[in-house]
Amino acid sequence: MTTPTQFDAASDAAERSRLVSASDPVLEIKNLSVDYGYDDDPVHVLRQVSLTLGRGEVLGLAGESGCGKSTLAYAATRLLPPPGLITGGEVLFTDRDGTKTDILKLDDRALRASRWQDMAIVFQGAMNSLNPVFRIGRQIADGIQAHRPGISRKEALERSAELLELVGIAPDRLRSYPHQLSGGMRQRVMIAMALALDPQVLIMDEPTTALDVVMQRQIVEQIAELRTRLGFSVIFITHDVSLLIEIADRIAIMYAGEIIEDAAALDVYQRPRHPYSSALLHSFPPLRGPRRELTGIPGSPPDLAKLGGGCPFRDRCAFAFDACSTVTPELVRPVVAGDDPRRAVACLHHDPAVVRAMGQEPPAIPVEISRSAHDAERNAAVV
Ligand SMILES: Nc1ncnc2c1ncn2[C@@H]1O[C@H](COP(=O)(O)OP(=O)(O)O)[C@@H](O)[C@H]1O
Ligand SMILES: [Mg+2]
Repeated sequence: MTTPTQFDAASDAAERSRLVSASDPVLEIKNLSVDYGYDDDPVHVLRQVSLTLGRGEVLGLAGESGCGKSTLAYAATRLLPPPGLITGGEVLFTDRDGTKTDILKLDDRALRASRWQDMAIVFQGAMNSLNPVFRIGRQIADGIQAHRPGISRKEALERSAELLELVGIAPDRLRSYPHQLSGGMRQRVMIAMALALDPQVLIMDEPTTALDVVMQRQIVEQIAELRTRLGFSVIFITHDVSLLIEIADRIAIMYAGEIIEDAAALDVYQRPRHPYSSALLHSFPPLRGPRRELTGIPGSPPDLAKLGGGCPFRDRCAFAFDACSTVTPELVRPVVAGDDPRRAVACLHHDPAVVRAMGQEPPAIPVEISRSAHDAERNAAVV
């Protein structure tokens, strides 16, 4: 038997990418913008964020705390609490029959009908939101009956037992109280509840963050297995990008309220283009495979209230040059021959139009900030 390595994870990711068709989107977030605060001076927390989730795909969304990941999840599901305000954009959901609906335009009734059935969300920290005084079975069954009033109590409890089994928990746990379950089991209960109405899209906000690494791994494997079995699509949100190589087909990296890189998981992992993606990858240990030197990212993310023009990452970037302080990079499809056409990056180093407009030779920069050489070196050292 061979020991699983980073390369197994990488080939799994390549295989997964091949299985997903980019031309069949189930969710398209287009130019979504969110402000916090209604006064004259609101903070622009999301600025024109666009993301596409393919049917059957697992899209990982990663970035440091405070970059806007949860805001994106709340806004896309219309669950954004005040003082958050969606100021622009579209969230197009495509049903199995091809009908497209803009979630942002639904009236309350249509939204209630769509929620949990089209798209379900597992909130950040949700496993701590189970009511401590009610048994698990009651809480799942109540949830089912709230959305399907026609279902009897008996049917709702039977379905609850089925859902628990689906996430690997024995149905007799229906009689347990939340405190009698481990953190991992409580998180599985939340996933079971989200799957109650057989949703087409499951958004999971930091589903493994509060768990130890063994439990993290089990939950990630469980989600991957359920996705294959039930065929839903997933947006998996995490601050730990290394976790995503285990599960994601694509990875979108967020920084200061914008997507700064969006590519197939393997491309992000092995050939990140944005210096921030590369730095983020070097901030977390991989779940499996050889040890890797962790470097962290110097400095801290910018204050969104004070963000001016230029690249928001420039003050922390080892490769920043003059234009980075004045020109705001846009998320452009790179023109490197042979690239995946969906691959995009918001970095002036990779925007030939900007470099041309500067009327000078591009500064000496890494065209591709590649980790592969670094990893190959380390693997050689380990073997
Ligand atoms: N209720 C709120 N009022 C004002 N600002 C908020 C509120 N909630 C979040 N923010 C700000 O929005 C930004 C994004 O937050 P969030 O979406 O929670 O980030 P993440 O999930 O990536 O950690 C942060 O800078 C945070 O300070
Ligand atoms: Mg969050």
